[in-house]
Amino acid sequence: MEPTAEIVSDGPAGLLQSDDLYNDLCVPREAEILKELTDASANYPLSFMVTSPDSGQLIALLLKLLNAKKTIEIGVFTGYSLLLTALTIPQDGNIIAIDVDREAYEIGLPFIKKANVEHKIDFIESQALPVLDKLLENQENESCFGFAFVDADKANLKNYHERLLRLVRVGGTIMYDNTLWGGTVALSDPSCVVPLRQSAWKDMVEFNKMIAGDPWVDISLVALGDGMTICRRIY
Ligand SMILES: C[S@@+](CC[C@H](N)C(=O)[O-])C[C@H]1O[C@@H](n2cnc3c(N)ncnc32)[C@H](O)[C@@H]1O
Repeated sequence: MEPTAEIVSDGPAGLLQSDDLYNDLCVPREAEILKELTDASANYPLSFMVTSPDSGQLIALLLKLLNAKKTIEIGVFTGYSLLLTALTIPQDGNIIAIDVDREAYEIGLPFIKKANVEHKIDFIESQALPVLDKLLENQENESCFGFAFVDADKANLKNYHERLLRLVRVGGTIMYDNTLWGGTVALSDPSCVVPLRQSAWKDMVEFNKMIAGDPWVDISLVALGDGMTICRRIY
């Protein structure tokens, strides 16, 4: 598609400014099975939470650059980022996927089965924090994961970071979704924030400050989707 003089996006295009351009540049490489999963999620409550194709592309690229084999996912929902990860890691790779909501996971499960990647997934229906603590009880789990994707409750972000820094290997990566929180992290007063964004606004602002000063990780805050912070463990 040729560049246009008009700005025509209310959707996911962000700085691309045009949904047509977004569809031309970001969506064509998306696997058909991921499109099917997104379509199947469309009528499920809160379907806007499904990871977008451009964010998915970045996750898949990082997984490949890292040669990640063992990964952790906190916040599965209907399974877009989970299926994407399972399609990207090697045949003998493994994902520990944690979510409190099994019902949502089961919306995506038929597509995971259809893609023949279910054997790579250990889905754990639980609050994420106790699962991470349990993993850390076994010393063999320390520093053995190549990648972790965090896309769940914001109140626990600092707790997740503390645990994941021990579970992910040196040079491995933790990726946090929603770190720009709809752009509201730039606001100084939470009363200006739309109601949907208000409850976790403070958590997100505090987490960003904490990560910016964390000497244990290299970071990049990417203005993609709702904002994604990529952290690479240094020590
Ligand atoms: C934004 S959605 C995840 C979207 C998913 N990554 C995708 O690609 O579609 C957030 C998910 O986090 C889950 N969640 C929220 N708090 C949680 C917690 N404390 N422990 C585990 N899962 C949690 C919710 O049930 C929800 O399914």
